[in-house]
Amino acid sequence: MPFETALTKALDLRVPVLAAPLGRGSSAEFLGAMANCGSFGFTALMHMPEETVGDELARMSRVTNGRFGANLTLVVDQRKRLAAALDAGVRVFSVWQGDVEPYVRVIKDAGGLVFWTVGDPGDAAHAKDIGVDFIVSQGREAGGHLVGSAPTMSLLPSIVDAAKGVPVVAAGGIAEGRGLVAALALGACGVWMGSRFVASGESANHRGYKERIVAARATDLVETEIFDAGWQESPHRVIRNSTYARWEEAGCPPAGQRPGEGERISRFPNGKPLYRYDVAAAWDAMEGEWEVSPLYADATVELIHDVKSVAEIVEEIEVTARTVLAGLADWRTGR
Ligand SMILES: Cc1cc2nc3c(=O)[nH]c(=O)nc-3n(C[C@H](O)[C@H](O)[C@H](O)COP(=O)(O)O)c2cc1C
Repeated sequence: MPFETALTKALDLRVPVLAAPLGRGSSAEFLGAMANCGSFGFTALMHMPEETVGDELARMSRVTNGRFGANLTLVVDQRKRLAAALDAGVRVFSVWQGDVEPYVRVIKDAGGLVFWTVGDPGDAAHAKDIGVDFIVSQGREAGGHLVGSAPTMSLLPSIVDAAKGVPVVAAGGIAEGRGLVAALALGACGVWMGSRFVASGESANHRGYKERIVAARATDLVETEIFDAGWQESPHRVIRNSTYARWEEAGCPPAGQRPGEGERISRFPNGKPLYRYDVAAAWDAMEGEWEVSPLYADATVELIHDVKSVAEIVEEIEVTARTVLAGLADWRTGR
């Protein structure tokens, strides 16, 4: 039996699994691997210079045959990036943080599909009125930046209840087939996974970062606001690294007094310097000390034991989810 949910129908998916935007990790090759296995990934426009966003998206569109989405973090003005993305033919968008409504309107006027990442039922209740197609419920245990007011197990059903029929995708704490089934049981139409896909062969995140995810335990994670250059006062979950350890040893001083602040650690592909405490996660071709950058991840590090190809990850989710669902059916009939 194929999986059939509002999500699989809208995006023509084999399995209701989406890849979250992964900073610079969501490269054309990564998105192509997602598209090739009947899945779908999002790329983060925040990390693309306004001058090159159109060209980068055009390449992604060629590699994926148009099967990918673009994510807009609305802590900065994203109108130019949105216009460039629409010009490049992108029609699936994810928005979060900030004032989403004007962006939703532009995307809907262009015939697009909108996912809105929310962290509390109040926002979910508003989604239908502003024309959002899918809500992404981000549980507090998620990796990366956080909006969730509670962990997935309790947040997701409360968002489903508040959503007035808008389909809900579950994010935060999901890395495999059992998590997919649990999310479906809680009322979701699919899942949105970040940390698991960072640790995939095709993601353009740094190899050392992937290995840290594989090696980490949940006790190695911290929720902090220190990686704030470019995105302030926004909590995020990371694996404890040397930048965090130095800041902690210094007595957790406020911004402006932190150890190594203003220290140049690398440079972006366009030559711009990258400083300690920047929000950018380590990417594959990064020069210099990748380990001092934020290593975004969540408690699913307990479930991630190796770096695998995207196709293997998606296939395993599908097989496990079917096995679990069959087991549940047996349980219901008392066998
Ligand atoms: C490396 C990384 C970068 C992320 N960047 C973004 C981003 O730019 N925009 C966004 O909406 N979410 C971003 N997220 C958060 C994800 O969308 C998602 O909510 C989260 O990864 C789900 O939790 P999980 O890691 O437990 O799967 C990022 C997550 C990670 C791990």
